[in-house]
Amino acid sequence: MRSFLGRDILSLKDFERHEYNHIFQVAEELEPYARDRHNGDLLKHKTLVTAFYQPSTRTRLSTEAAMHRLGGHVTGFADPKMTRAGDFYQESIKDTVCMLEYYGDVIAMRHFQQGAPHEAAKWASIPIINCGDGWGEHPTQVLIDMFTIWRELGTLDGLNFLLVGDMRMRTMHSIGYAMSKFDINATFVAPPDMSMTDEFKDELRAYNLCFKEANSTEEAIADADVIYMEPVVQADYAQSRVEVEKGYGLTPPEYTVTREMLRDKAKSHAIILHSLPRMDELPVDVDNTKHARYWVEAYNGVLVRMALLSLLLGAVE
Ligand code: CP
Repeated sequence: MRSFLGRDILSLKDFERHEYNHIFQVAEELEPYARDRHNGDLLKHKTLVTAFYQPSTRTRLSTEAAMHRLGGHVTGFADPKMTRAGDFYQESIKDTVCMLEYYGDVIAMRHFQQGAPHEAAKWASIPIINCGDGWGEHPTQVLIDMFTIWRELGTLDGLNFLLVGDMRMRTMHSIGYAMSKFDINATFVAPPDMSMTDEFKDELRAYNLCFKEANSTEEAIADADVIYMEPVVQADYAQSRVEVEKGYGLTPPEYTVTREMLRDKAKSHAIILHSLPRMDELPVDVDNTKHARYWVEAYNGVLVRMALLSLLLGAVE
């Protein structure tokens, strides 16, 4: 197996099955730190630098929480407007990263431009973790999604996934690549103007993923073991920041999952994942059903990110 030591985590395209399994095992080994709410000292000599050019609640804070749980240090920015990259100078990624690499041992980057973390990785001598790049990918979120499914259903093979939402989303790209490494059948449901591009379909076929498209959640939910949701009413991920718009529409019923739909049509063991934040596609009364797993993901996010940081920084093999 390739070593994780010093590796950039930019995409799930090149992740192998056994690498998912290895991350999951390390995440479970490190779980006591999070479960017992007890910080250790595994990374006490290491520093995480967060470079977030776009807003985030979960990704940045859980990466920082993972570093704290392992006794490491954290520095960085959550708003590029307070750096030279976001003011008059519009400092380039190259120049910024050539500074940041001396301030820590690993950089977690979110950016509104697709490929920005890849550009950073060209210049940095320390690992770069892609925490979401424009409409590109969100590899760590999907590692958490796959870990959650593996823990909840006991396997990733032999499952039917129903994926609902905007197929331009970075999570949809990463999960497409991830599903192709397992024996998974995927059904995609999206509005016509947010459906999978021909290029992405060709790519998934080249990766040997078995998939089809359907018109509505209702049409496809009965077969699903995993229901993976994203909003269709949402921000433009190619912008650095999008303020709330007045008068945005409601989600059409074809792209929602309701409590009634789950009661009448879903498999008893089906689980729902959502990377969050949500809009009205996933009503809050679903939270109290046996199907909801999106809050468990907040906990799992710390486990998986502890595993990644430990592996990249050589604290575990
Ligand atoms: N899941 C996720 O990427 O959420 P944040 O935007 O809050 O980080």
